[in-house]
Amino acid sequence: MAVGAATACAPSEGAVVAPSQAAAVAPVTPGASKSTTGAPGIGDPDFPDDGNGGYDVQHYDLRLSYDPASRKLAGSATIEAKAAQDLTSFDLDLHGLTVSRVTVDGGAASFDRSKDELVIEPGKRISNGHRFAVTVDYAGVPEPMHDSANLGEYGFISTADGAFVTCEPNGAKTWFPSNDHPSDKATYDFRITVPEGLTAIANGEMTGTPQTKAGRTTFAWREKHPMASYLATMTTGKFQVRTGTSDKGLPIYVAVADSFRGSLDQLLTQTGKITDYWSTVFGPYPFSSTGGVIDDYAAGYALENQTKPIYGGFSPEPAIIAHELAHQWFGDSLTITRWRDLWLNEGFATYAEWLWAEHTGQGTADSAFKRLYANAADPMWAYPPGAARADDLFGAAVYNRGAMTLHALRREIGDDKFFPLIRAWTDAHRYGNVTTQEFIALAERISGKNLKGLFDAWLFQPRRPAPLAGP
Ligand code: TRP
Ligand code: ZN
Repeated sequence: MAVGAATACAPSEGAVVAPSQAAAVAPVTPGASKSTTGAPGIGDPDFPDDGNGGYDVQHYDLRLSYDPASRKLAGSATIEAKAAQDLTSFDLDLHGLTVSRVTVDGGAASFDRSKDELVIEPGKRISNGHRFAVTVDYAGVPEPMHDSANLGEYGFISTADGAFVTCEPNGAKTWFPSNDHPSDKATYDFRITVPEGLTAIANGEMTGTPQTKAGRTTFAWREKHPMASYLATMTTGKFQVRTGTSDKGLPIYVAVADSFRGSLDQLLTQTGKITDYWSTVFGPYPFSSTGGVIDDYAAGYALENQTKPIYGGFSPEPAIIAHELAHQWFGDSLTITRWRDLWLNEGFATYAEWLWAEHTGQGTADSAFKRLYANAADPMWAYPPGAARADDLFGAAVYNRGAMTLHALRREIGDDKFFPLIRAWTDAHRYGNVTTQEFIALAERISGKNLKGLFDAWLFQPRRPAPLAGP
């Protein structure tokens, strides 16, 4: 849906002074003859192989069937895209799995595999601006990603009774061929077939009642708002499901593994309450339903899957639910253009935890800030959160120093500018892609202040910033 990634900027200067980020997918050297080969990466300087250049995906139509006993996934993925250049070949990202057939606009296409790239050569050249549909038939036992970005395992993880599917930052390619980078968002249709008795959970809403035939049930889900590939899921297993409506009228879907049966009602109630509250703070909720999933796979972490955050093997306390639901605005509706801007997700979601504590009388954001600031030896002072590192993407600095950045900003411009700024931010970029530079520019516009020094000290310097003015 969106265009390519931003050009790289040196972290200590770039974000603050550079003009807006716009850059083409697959930059072409001036004067060089125009290549008709789609680039194998979308242009993220820190994840050069992630995503692909030369086209922009509009929609994924995923037909999937999963058999937990054999761990075999079979899929047929149709990807509707628009060419951003003439293409005689282009890539999709796919990790493992065996491709049996590829067609482009119904005609046979040849294909090749090289590492995590599926290279496709359509029968005839696709012209710049032309819409096309590529269908990939594939099957195999999915293998999750590990160790990349210091994360342990992520992607499609098989469990005793199904699968736990959490893909940030680049694990969507473990279960479907995709342009696996957040700068290319698209809408999704899922039709997921699993053995009768299991539930398959994806994003958005169900488009009909599940259909059972010959011992297998098909669940159809649709996410009609643009979504980053890392937020897609097809979590499967034995689940207890409940649906409801929040006080403000938003549909809620929650599912918990049998062993978390006791948390089902609470997850439904808290999810509705917190989603409604955030809509008064951050602006209208961006999607058509809210929810949550507790699986019994003991990941120990949660992920903000669009419309349905997932909690891996624990019953979340309200602060964690508040964090994941805040991501529906910061990360899911407003999506980063390149991974080094991750503080726009995690700093905001962590700050949301502090706001939730403030709202529920469990301590102020100011006290959370001061507690962290007091520790001069914290390693986060050496890690500038405005430049999240590929080898330590989810470092504590991105979360905590990112949140402190927002608090320093709030203290500098006051609540009467800070909260309107947050709402203007979510409103201006709803369903889109964002950069740190855009946030800084908006903060300066709304506050009428020069904030370059503040953001530079908090986001881009490898040392503890000076204390905030005032008490
Ligand atoms: N974004 C998650 C959070 O802070 C953390 C996370 C990063 C994650 N990568 C993941 C969770 C992969 C699950 C799988 O809420
Ligand atoms: Zn988070």
